[in-house]
Amino acid sequence: MKGIILAGGSATRLYPLSKAISKQIMPVYDKPMIYYPLSTLMLAGIREVLVISTPRDLPMFRELLGDGSRIGMQIEYKIQEVPNGLAQAFVLGREFLNGEPGCLILGDNMFYGQGFSKMLREAVADVEGGHAGACIFGYEVSDPRAYGVVEFDSEGHVLSLEEKPSQPKSRYAVPGLYFYNKSVCEKAAILEPSARGEYEITDLNKMYLTEGTLKVKLFGRGFAWLDTGNCDSLLEAGNFIATIQNRQGFYVSCIEEIAWRNGWISTETLAALGKEMKTAYGRYLEGLAEHAK
Ligand code: G1P
Repeated sequence: MKGIILAGGSATRLYPLSKAISKQIMPVYDKPMIYYPLSTLMLAGIREVLVISTPRDLPMFRELLGDGSRIGMQIEYKIQEVPNGLAQAFVLGREFLNGEPGCLILGDNMFYGQGFSKMLREAVADVEGGHAGACIFGYEVSDPRAYGVVEFDSEGHVLSLEEKPSQPKSRYAVPGLYFYNKSVCEKAAILEPSARGEYEITDLNKMYLTEGTLKVKLFGRGFAWLDTGNCDSLLEAGNFIATIQNRQGFYVSCIEEIAWRNGWISTETLAALGKEMKTAYGRYLEGLAEHAK
């Protein structure tokens, strides 16, 4: 399984904040936003990642993450010239995936909660093992109109999927995290643009639903799927991360720590990465390395 992070778009709901820089590079408390989706892929055990962004913003992501080797990963980059829909990730990412299954995460989607790694690894196993063609998630929100919405029958079977419905059939929004089998690029290639002119990820998911191979896993009420769409939700997300980190002393979405716990970098490398940063973040990495000795 390989991963794709889609970090494009113009984030007009954050203007003027996002006028000159990418939303996904902005700070969420103490780290750039893209660290959060990247860490989700890493927790799923995904080591090869493609970052897709605009011609303007891609160089900044490259400067931030490089080729990934510092954290034992392989990170590649691809430009999306026109922001014409999320499903385009699998047209642009076809060469990168090279016939393998792929996980797509949106560059502004942040997840946090107990048991998350287990759910991610189950999704990978379901898709890689052929038990599901696609695995997506459902999360109850008070107002799902801004999202893809999934409807279930009384036995939990998926009845419908709709993109940004004005009258949602359920309260279950579909977060921007999708696992697909190797047929995803073929499916994405034959998608037609929607009424708003976009290649919709919801239409791609519907192809798996029609085929009878779509699996939807639900995040429970204790789980956090954070929004970063406007200034208030961005601030709230930052405060949420600060609260958790300062209370427990564990960093959230610390990519160096996850790489180390995954066995992708050594304790010595972790200490060296920490030493480079003269901040609490750097000292945290050094502390982890110290305690491991
Ligand atoms: C996109 C998807 C939508 C999904 C959402 C999650 O919406 O189209 O189905 O629920 O991401 O963040 P967008 O953020 O592009 O409006």
